[in-house]
Amino acid sequence: MPNRFYVTTPIYYVNDRPHIGHVYTTTIADVLARYHRLAGDDVFFLTGVDEHAAKVVDAAKERGLTPQQWADQNAASFRDTFAKLAITNDDFVRTSEDRHKKKVQEYVAALMKSGDIYAGQYEGWYDAGQEEYVTDSKAQESGFKSPINGKPLVRKTEKNYFFKLSAYREQLLTLLEKGEKINDQGFDVQPEARKNEIISRIREMNDVPISRTGSGGWGIPVPGDAEQTIYVWIDALFNYLTYVDTPERRPYWQSGAVHLIAKDILWFHAAIWPAMLLALAKCEGYDWVNLPKLVYAHSFWISEGQKMSKSLGNFIDLEKIDQYVATFGLDALRYFLATQGPLGTTDSDFAEAKFIETYNTDLANVVGNCASRIINMTSRYWGGKVPSSANASTDFNLEDFETFVDVALYAIFGSRTGWEPKGNVHKMVGLLAVSSLSDSKTPNLNCALHYAITLVSMIDEYIEITAPFKLAKDPAKLPEVGTILYNCAEAIRVASALLWPVMPGKMEELWRRLGCDYAQQMQSNGGRGNLDEWTKWGLLQPGTPIPAGDALFPRYQPPK
Ligand code: MSP
Repeated sequence: MPNRFYVTTPIYYVNDRPHIGHVYTTTIADVLARYHRLAGDDVFFLTGVDEHAAKVVDAAKERGLTPQQWADQNAASFRDTFAKLAITNDDFVRTSEDRHKKKVQEYVAALMKSGDIYAGQYEGWYDAGQEEYVTDSKAQESGFKSPINGKPLVRKTEKNYFFKLSAYREQLLTLLEKGEKINDQGFDVQPEARKNEIISRIREMNDVPISRTGSGGWGIPVPGDAEQTIYVWIDALFNYLTYVDTPERRPYWQSGAVHLIAKDILWFHAAIWPAMLLALAKCEGYDWVNLPKLVYAHSFWISEGQKMSKSLGNFIDLEKIDQYVATFGLDALRYFLATQGPLGTTDSDFAEAKFIETYNTDLANVVGNCASRIINMTSRYWGGKVPSSANASTDFNLEDFETFVDVALYAIFGSRTGWEPKGNVHKMVGLLAVSSLSDSKTPNLNCALHYAITLVSMIDEYIEITAPFKLAKDPAKLPEVGTILYNCAEAIRVASALLWPVMPGKMEELWRRLGCDYAQQMQSNGGRGNLDEWTKWGLLQPGTPIPAGDALFPRYQPPK
């Protein structure tokens, strides 16, 4: 049985169209999903939209539309955008769908029955213009006036349903601080600094209201109380479960979800969500419910050195995203997001100059240039066909190596220093690249992709060191040239497999030129690949035509 892997993104508010922040988290999730499929895992990847927010109602009203009409338009925009960016989600959440609403009501009813959700009174400072409560500290800060319209806040009491969050304090702390497991499943929050933040907050947590009144019918009613609507955050968090709560999909949930989010919504995911799941698991008929294995909270994109804002004109909206794709190609955008993005705890700057530099340095000069060199030399010296590697030995013997990483490292360091190849070097570099992509604890893409690119630059170094273009001047040395070119082509083939999750379009093009049918193999195997096999040395068949073609990543010259 293949491993299962379940990865999710936040579901995004549909008060507006998607922007780079939404595209970012979804792209990272897509790279992870693709990586796991490539490695042969059985993957479920979920993204979608969160519809029942008050701001959706407001935005619809401004346009003279019903909330549903406005949500429909924006949901379509999210769906289309993701499709255009080659996102391979397996389903798309819309919280206004019956299949979601019905399940949420079932979960809430079970929690009401068990007593973890109870009716109570909520009292607080209410901003009537905004239809929302303001926290005590915010109210004090603003002098008990609305921060939006300056009108006095009112002290208001209303009936609400509450979730007994405080009852789960100790259990959550044990899970997070001691790394303990419940039903064989641990629960982790990463990066470490974010986990520490959340631990201090959990120590002080109280019960939370989970319903509101006056939503005008936009939302999911509390079972048995038509006046109250389930609070949009509770409704939204449940999406991770509602969409896989079917007999066929439950095994994905049980494999331990990986929730990718940003730091802005950590509290909901790292405290309220696991507590609700612990509560639900105690209810009759829900003993199969376990915890997610990881909540990973990345940081934020800023733009051209400042917080993104429409008024500053630095907002990376859909039009901007389209422009980048039109100029540099989709794979370049995905590569930039994956390697320069805010994984970890510092924000990243989306700046045009940085984009161009990344594109030219890594993609045009390294990957594209290396592929062109290999293809051109093969056509010039070897009739445009994969040479036979058995023609001649170079200064090392291929049998001594397990992967091309060994070969590349040996080519660079070994021949200069006499370093011995038999030390499982590929475990150091090749597997590091692979495992940092897949390790659910810290999905360190920046690092994994850095290794993959380093491997390609090693091919370049190998070409410099072995100098086939010089050897080719002597007809007696042509067999040796063949061996070198074979090694290069084989090396870039393996690198292309490691780079496919982030640049599927260009890597599939490279596969076509190298005569590899991996895309077809994946398609006929339910989307699953065989990375272990495909990163082995020696799979390219001598004699296979390698047609020349346009540069994969033409160098970008900014217009004067
Ligand atoms: N609807 C809630 C989430 C419910 S999940 C059960 C919500 N939606 S949102 O539309 O505001 O999206 C927030 C998410 O969008 C962030 O957590 C992050 O994934 C992404 N980003 C939004 N702005 C971002 C940046 N500037 N940079 C990086 N990611 C950002 O909150």
